[in-house]
Amino acid sequence: MKSDIELYYRAHVFCCTNQRPPGHKRGCCAEKGAERLRDYMKSRCKELGLPDVRINNAGCLDRCELGPCFVVYPEGVWYAPKNESDVDEIIATHLVKGDRVERLRLPSRKA
Ligand code: FES
Repeated sequence: MKSDIELYYRAHVFCCTNQRPPGHKRGCCAEKGAERLRDYMKSRCKELGLPDVRINNAGCLDRCELGPCFVVYPEGVWYAPKNESDVDEIIATHLVKGDRVERLRLPSRKA
């Protein structure tokens, strides 16, 4: 789909950090380290001086069981990074080169 507007950010990452009570049947991204990974991504992007890249906090993205859930727009590519090394790979491969990290992707379409 071709956009009719100029994008404000080249890459805009939304990181779910929603927290639910322990034992909730759906779980949550916060219990899987999402806040730590969001903070890490934000600080690494700042250190690298990536232009036009924004890392934002998000509430529940409704894919709780698969989290931690991060989604990169405008492409709408979903990732589930488990540690700092995964975040480094997303930054280097997707945010810098514009490629995808297939092994960390979540399906983009609803089943
Ligand atoms: S708690 Fe993260 S997607 Fe729902």
